[in-house]
Amino acid sequence: MIVLGIETSCDETAAAIVRSDRKILSNLVVSQLDEHRPYGGVVPEIAARSHLDHIDGLVERAIEEAQIRFEDLDGVAATGGPGLIGGVLVGMMTAKAVALVHDRPLIAVNHLEGHALTARLTDGLDYPYLLLLVSGGHCQLLAVSGPGAYRRYGTTLDDAVGEAFDKTAKLLGLPYPGGPAVEQAAKQGQPDRYAFPRPMRGRPGCDFSFSGLKTAVARVAREVALDQKAVADIAASFQTAVAEALTDRTRNALRRFKSECPAGRALVVAGGVAANAHLRATLTALAGEEDFRFVAPPPALCTDNAAMIAWAGIERLQRNMTDSLDFAPRPRWPLEDLAAAS
Ligand code: KG4
Ligand code: ZN
Repeated sequence: MIVLGIETSCDETAAAIVRSDRKILSNLVVSQLDEHRPYGGVVPEIAARSHLDHIDGLVERAIEEAQIRFEDLDGVAATGGPGLIGGVLVGMMTAKAVALVHDRPLIAVNHLEGHALTARLTDGLDYPYLLLLVSGGHCQLLAVSGPGAYRRYGTTLDDAVGEAFDKTAKLLGLPYPGGPAVEQAAKQGQPDRYAFPRPMRGRPGCDFSFSGLKTAVARVAREVALDQKAVADIAASFQTAVAEALTDRTRNALRRFKSECPAGRALVVAGGVAANAHLRATLTALAGEEDFRFVAPPPALCTDNAAMIAWAGIERLQRNMTDSLDFAPRPRWPLEDLAAAS
């Protein structure tokens, strides 16, 4: 089975061709970073126009690089939400056109499901597994037992963790996007220089909170002279606080998962923040303590890409979970709604 995947829900235009034996035949991403950087964040109007400029050429290149023809496709998958509606419309419209012209099934993929199933593409992991999904817009712990089969253990009560990285970067005068910049700055920093809070640590349950941590970082950033050393120390102290907070919540989730899904033996991290090396190291240690396998996709498949959308499309196609050509993009689309929608 060969599927074309299209991803346009945020600031990356992406197209990929993936085969059901887990081979990625092509995987192309055009980043709009330079277009959004002057504004310090993603501007939806600019994003939608840029997706429109790039998507047709990118799909053609993905087909070429995979050395296939459109007729070889078994299905066309595109992100149907959640995300910036202008961009999602561009991707869905393109996918519908290809599906219609070549008479192939359409699969509208939930972007979060793309992240959630990436470990199946990269590591051939079996269901069920526990997933920590950490991105710019989301921070959740989920038991995953199949496409469309998610049980949410916890979520953030306020900000997403990627947002906390992005805001911290702004406060420290680091460039956009914040996550990689904070990680880079933290390399030279002293992680115990500032005692930032570890929100929710020690409390029962699996929910997260990052607003208190953000406020603490803002206070210190205002009070000290932000020379190179202070920036590095704040970045390192912040990154450590985040990793400890995430690890504490994930430990609770692992214990619940063990009792509810005794067949599961793996902890997976996914989403843009999963590219963070310090977080990966902390979670590796936690999984080891709990006698779980730890799986983290390579960083390029943690941040937004179309291979993950094509793969989720394959898993859905294999189960006849396809969508009609009048599928309406959904700017908001919680993962737990998937079972009901399918
Ligand atoms: O999954 P993603 O590419 O897009 C969304 O669906 O949100 O995640 C983007 C988020 C941004 O907040 C970015 O700052 C963060 O992931 N991020 C990182 C790193 N790379 C990207 N955060 C921490 N460390 C990184 N290395
Ligand atoms: Zn994402």
